[in-house]
Amino acid sequence: MKTAKLIGLVLLLVTLGCKQQDQANPTNISEDISIENKVDSLLSIMTLEEKIGQMNQYNGFWDVTGPTPENGDAAKKYEHLRKGYVGSMLNVTGVENVRTVQKIAVEETRLGIPLIIGFDVIHGYKTLSPIPLAEAASWDLQAIKKSAEVAALEASAAGINWTFAPMVDISRDARWGRVMEGAGEDTFLGSKIAVARVEGFQGDDLSTHNTIAACAKHWAGYGFAESGKDYNTVDVGTSTLNNIIFPPFKATVDAGVRTFMNSFNELNGIPATGNAYLQRYVLKGSWEFDGFVVSDWGSMSEMIAHGYAENKKHAAELSANAGSDMDMESYAYVAELANLVNEGKVSEAHINDAVKRILRVKFELGLFDDPYKYCDASREKEVTGSQEIHDAVLEMAKKSIVLLKNENNTLPLKKEGQKIALIGALADDKTSPLGSWRIGAEDGTAISVLEGMQQYKNNQLTFAKGANVITGGASFPFELNINTNDKSEFSKAINTAKNADVVVMVLGEHAFQSGEARSRALLGLPGVQQELLEAVYAVNKNIVLVLNNGRPLTIPWADAHIPAIVEAWHLGTQSGNAIAQVLYGDYNPSGKLPMTFPRSVGQLPIYYNFKNTGRPSANEPNSVFWSHYTDESNTPLYPFGHGLSYTTFQYSNLHVNVVNTNTVEVSFSLKNTGSAKGKEVAQLYIRDLFASVTRPVKELKGFELVALESGETKQITITLTEDELGFYNNTGEFVVEPGDFMVFVGGSSNTVLEKKFKL
Ligand code: BGC
Repeated sequence: MKTAKLIGLVLLLVTLGCKQQDQANPTNISEDISIENKVDSLLSIMTLEEKIGQMNQYNGFWDVTGPTPENGDAAKKYEHLRKGYVGSMLNVTGVENVRTVQKIAVEETRLGIPLIIGFDVIHGYKTLSPIPLAEAASWDLQAIKKSAEVAALEASAAGINWTFAPMVDISRDARWGRVMEGAGEDTFLGSKIAVARVEGFQGDDLSTHNTIAACAKHWAGYGFAESGKDYNTVDVGTSTLNNIIFPPFKATVDAGVRTFMNSFNELNGIPATGNAYLQRYVLKGSWEFDGFVVSDWGSMSEMIAHGYAENKKHAAELSANAGSDMDMESYAYVAELANLVNEGKVSEAHINDAVKRILRVKFELGLFDDPYKYCDASREKEVTGSQEIHDAVLEMAKKSIVLLKNENNTLPLKKEGQKIALIGALADDKTSPLGSWRIGAEDGTAISVLEGMQQYKNNQLTFAKGANVITGGASFPFELNINTNDKSEFSKAINTAKNADVVVMVLGEHAFQSGEARSRALLGLPGVQQELLEAVYAVNKNIVLVLNNGRPLTIPWADAHIPAIVEAWHLGTQSGNAIAQVLYGDYNPSGKLPMTFPRSVGQLPIYYNFKNTGRPSANEPNSVFWSHYTDESNTPLYPFGHGLSYTTFQYSNLHVNVVNTNTVEVSFSLKNTGSAKGKEVAQLYIRDLFASVTRPVKELKGFELVALESGETKQITITLTEDELGFYNNTGEFVVEPGDFMVFVGGSSNTVLEKKFKL
């Protein structure tokens, strides 16, 4: 009763607010204005504790059978929920569970403010798309958008209305396990993909029941962890921040992303969670972001270990003043913020600003109109694992595959009359392809490569696992039973290979060898897989190596010896079907690497858009004093943008038309010179040859995914504007500096055509 009365009061205030607005400017009543009125009206009747409650997020404490609030944290969380001291929960999934917590928030608290329900819908909820790095390899923005759209569809049907994705951290170091969660090393490609993902999750209208709020993370610099070790220190200069790290985040703000997550790392001495420059000055100031910022898991209290906060109370003070709006699982705001306000250490204006941001997003999601709009059990049943979702993730999986090498047309496989040996434990794995962010999916729900290949029945297929790579389940301690040294299965695999016409070996990382906290110092094939590869090669050289992995690997031996190599990442639920269709030529691969593959770990960080240095090459024979390694080449094993097809492409006729200092039209011809139809990602790079801040040797500034029939030629024109021609100088100003430029065009960052032009 009490609740109903208060909500009534709020609505009355809102209506009055709207009417006043109406009279003041009768032709200009927008949805936004009315949401702002509603937010202000609600805020005006909230107590300080209720406001702080909105800034508090708890992990779920419910299991499928209902609440378990008997003791400890769970009891406290439950009590806080009933008092209205919780604004959001994460990891509560399934309509029934979400309805249960939402009911408490709406019906038992004084104001009845609904919860926003967050979850890591990273590349799907239950039906999974490829890991984000793999999706990035498609360079297909429409497909990536569609993948996020179906992820939102399935997640929203299970009660979720907010995803902690996309991760838009640029990463240049494959040792970092979370490279699997982003779009790779390039800012231009990463920004386009970030926008596609935000648009896919949020749709055109956040208030419809099948769209969810997106979250750009991790703000900022998380991908630049020193030595690729997760959570490690980040120390980067302004040029790298402004030109490399910030742009994908800015692109998501421009695309209307509704939330941001800050990050675990310190940036130039200040932890991101307590970093006012990042959150208040750049994000909410210069970029005018009007959504809210959630902390990363426990990142407020982690500032104590960083040596930046003295204790939890101090951590709450630093976080609130720096602009962290919501506390994920530090319990710092709920415990300390009211005291800090009363002591004058955090202003109520900061609290009001944070709460307004959170309420704004809740109103936009339509949660006040119907808090149970994501809680329709029949919709959950109908949508989960629907054909539409399976079709979309299969398409995405095929598009994500990169053909790294294909000598002597080893691929595609013949469809009949072949004896094929399929080797590798990962070939028979129905869990690993789901990736390390599979928290909503059931183990064992992916199609394995073995199952995919078994559908091609006119060949004789024999399977042997060879190396005993046991993949753990999703529960702790999943690392304990991996990477065995067991070679007991080798001989069976070798015998199988001996009798085969062609050997398909599926090797690489299992899902939990990449992802959060899965940094690696060695990037070869884990365990005894390299030995297995060499042992099989000794008896049969006709090998197709299919890689399953969440990051670039160092595989120089394989590159030197194995005729065909397919990069198949962790491709999600439909993995085996996608891989089989590519191996058999029913799908012509067109993926291109979104991250450079190094030859050895010592080259890391390695990326195509490096700077030249003052000594880029030896100026006389045998000179040692130039920028190089004495024991390794400077070049990568596979460059950024690399990827082959079952057909071939030829680039020609490069023309540059400088329209003015802000517009340059670049055109070229692309011909399919092979016998199959196929798609090619045509890539355009530029170099500003001389500038007030040194510029990289090449920067991707345009690309187009072009479908061509055999023998067909298309004219491609890409227009460069000031966005592509300019850069941030060291005073943070975006400038286009007229002068000499180069343009490069080709099918990878090792481009084939180039021309100089003057701006
Ligand atoms: C990760 C975030 C994630 C959060 C919630 C953290 O450990 O860094 O990316 O969204 O957990 O699961």
